[in-house]
Amino acid sequence: MGDSIFQYFTEIINVQCFLIGLVTLLIARWFMTRSKRTYNLPPGPTSFPIIGNLPQMITVTDLSEKMKDLREQYGGIFKIDVGFDTMIMVCKTEWILEGLVKKGDQLKGRSYWFYLFDKVFRKKGIFFGIGKEWKDVKKFTLSAFRDLGVGKRNLEEQIYLEIQELGKVFDSYNGKPFSLKKPLAQFALSIIHHIIFGERVKVGETEFQKILDDFAFFFKNVSAFVPENFLPSLRFLRWKSPVGRIIQNDESARSYVKNKIIEHKETFDAENIRDFIDMYLLTLEKEPNSETLTGSNMLRAILDMFTGGTDTVALYLTWAFLYMAKYPDMQNRCREEIKQITNMSRPVTMEDKRSMTYVAATLLEVHRIAPIAPISAPHVAEVDTTLGGYDVPKNTAVSFILKDALHDPNHWDNPEEFRPERWINENNEIKKKEAFVPFSLGPRICAGMSLTHFETFIAFTNILQKYKMEKPDETPMTMEGIQTGITYIPVSDNIRVVPL
Ligand code: HEM
Repeated sequence: MGDSIFQYFTEIINVQCFLIGLVTLLIARWFMTRSKRTYNLPPGPTSFPIIGNLPQMITVTDLSEKMKDLREQYGGIFKIDVGFDTMIMVCKTEWILEGLVKKGDQLKGRSYWFYLFDKVFRKKGIFFGIGKEWKDVKKFTLSAFRDLGVGKRNLEEQIYLEIQELGKVFDSYNGKPFSLKKPLAQFALSIIHHIIFGERVKVGETEFQKILDDFAFFFKNVSAFVPENFLPSLRFLRWKSPVGRIIQNDESARSYVKNKIIEHKETFDAENIRDFIDMYLLTLEKEPNSETLTGSNMLRAILDMFTGGTDTVALYLTWAFLYMAKYPDMQNRCREEIKQITNMSRPVTMEDKRSMTYVAATLLEVHRIAPIAPISAPHVAEVDTTLGGYDVPKNTAVSFILKDALHDPNHWDNPEEFRPERWINENNEIKKKEAFVPFSLGPRICAGMSLTHFETFIAFTNILQKYKMEKPDETPMTMEGIQTGITYIPVSDNIRVVPL
């Protein structure tokens, strides 16, 4: 009895001591970070000690809408406190361009201290790499992609093959409505898988279906505003917290890539480079003492390109075909151009792009009206700097609301209208637009931009050469989208695909 009372009191005291210690530490850390309050920071919603703006962000269901509300309240630049850290959100086009390009070098860091980003990216690779390691790995990756045929004939052949497979899926629906995103994700996965691992993926195999589901889950659920970034312990308390599954999914993608690297090592031949992994093995062989092109950096870079190259392309093509179904006249005009150039008797090639101004304008307009990444990943100030008349202290995270520049009425007439013509000048050439930022700009510009332009042009034109996109039923298509994580997703992606 005496023992158990003693045990009871020691446990209570231990728990109390632990909690008091924890709260003291948190308050001490809050006081330490309060030094930022002497800076002239942009306005923002009322922030609370320790948890920052968690109460205002925890119930958000559409990030794009929330950012629009905050912009209306606080103007073209505002701040949100993510736990102890401040995140500055930039919405005004001129300040977005200044932050990405003019001050791009000062603002090219990454906020790896956010719980989820740190757990997944581990400061390695391209997305969340920093410093010389990031610079060298990104440079290597871009040059390897060029050498592997991005924009060239042999990869075109591979895309035609995938389009044939896609055609079989389309045909299986017999002109009935279906959800377009999944087959397009399979298509995009197969192409990036071929570039990185040298093999196609087999349609419908459970292993690949899991990869696709995991990638879609990632893009739908990850953002700087995941409540666990404000307070990491919430992952144990929050009902349906996605954080555990995201980390687990990342582990399984990691081991998938690791196994592929082992298989490649067994059959590696420096005279016969087959894919991205072989290029990476060759580099490790040639530069064994490189401090930047290391095994761990390359592993994460492969994961970044694998993840980044699937859902993004699939979503973009989904939006493009939905817009074609909504506007049949524009679809016909694209098809007319394809017919003029190919006589419908040969596939469209990348060479043809310069003669297809209306198609090129349509593809740009899709990026503008439905940007699949409406907000950039968080950048970080590597030095004390300023933006929009406010201070941006060193180590502060800064995100750019790219969608605001893409829909800014000062740069685009009637920005909510889908109008490919806005891109074409009197000489039937594509106009350059400085507010066109769907891939971001500056040092952190998307590493998959060239691949996206290539893959989506070949897919869009060759599919329209063979199929007609139609709305799923008699009701008008609303083209509504939602952003719960990184990407902007159509609320409905149902469509009818009819062979010509
Ligand atoms: C419609 C297609 C795509 C769009 C709109 C898009 C957009 C973006 C945006 C907005 C960023 C953030 C840049 C920043 O933080 O300022 C980004 C980064 C990145 N994207 Fe893409 N992306 C697309 C496709 C791809 C593809 C196909 C890949 C890979 C094959 C890819 C790989 C990456 C990587 C690795 C980064 C990180 C770059 C860095 O931090 O230096 N993306 N992308």
